[in-house]
Amino acid sequence: SDEIEWWDYDDAKEMAEAVAGDVQFIIESAIDARGAAVVALSGGKTPIPIYDKLARAKLDWKRVTIVPVDERIVPLGDPLSNVTMIGKAFIPKGARVIPIVSQSTADHKAAGRAADAIMQDLHWPLDLCLLGVGADGHTASIFPGPDYDEALNGPRERRALGVMPDPLPVEAPVPRVTLSRQGIVTARALMIAVTGAEKRRVIEQAIAQGPSSPYPIGRVLADAELPVDIHWAP
Ligand code: 6PG
Repeated sequence: SDEIEWWDYDDAKEMAEAVAGDVQFIIESAIDARGAAVVALSGGKTPIPIYDKLARAKLDWKRVTIVPVDERIVPLGDPLSNVTMIGKAFIPKGARVIPIVSQSTADHKAAGRAADAIMQDLHWPLDLCLLGVGADGHTASIFPGPDYDEALNGPRERRALGVMPDPLPVEAPVPRVTLSRQGIVTARALMIAVTGAEKRRVIEQAIAQGPSSPYPIGRVLADAELPVDIHWAP
């Protein structure tokens, strides 16, 4: 994207309030325009305070459909399940939260095809994709390594795929399914929320490297057609 804007906050709480406000506005605009909103929300730890805040917003939640931007291949309810974390915040409000992985399976490619079929049934493009970033430059579950090319350069119509990061990420050492590059960069709004100096350095480096960045987040940012907002707190 030619337009990447950083939004800096004093702390994670302040960031959560601002990002929740922006997400609320995006959801309201979609509901005003066509009576419904479809958003992809990141997993991991960073967004938990954002979702706590957002869940308290006065929204017509039954018109809101939520998918995770990526999912760890574990049974629903597992502490590593992103949709379980997201569901805790939004299902009680009446939102439709769609699990894109329904069971634990050894076959990540099959899980990816199933997740893609679920995404194909959604209104598209997504109204919002909210991403996190790892210190190794991964975003969603597009990791540097064996699946990088397929996740970034696979067929245009593919919205999700299964990946087997190598090495498996320490915070959740399981295969994953993830939105494809195409699914991410076509979203009507693209936002990133990260904390800490290390992730900031990685993102700044990735932006400077442009389309040839070895970091998946660098490729995603270079390919994004729309302005991207990066929200950051120490
Ligand atoms: C996941 C993610 C992933 C995450 C980053 C940052 O399922 O792990 O969606 O892309 O956003 O790994 O995670 P933290 O916020 O926990 O640091």
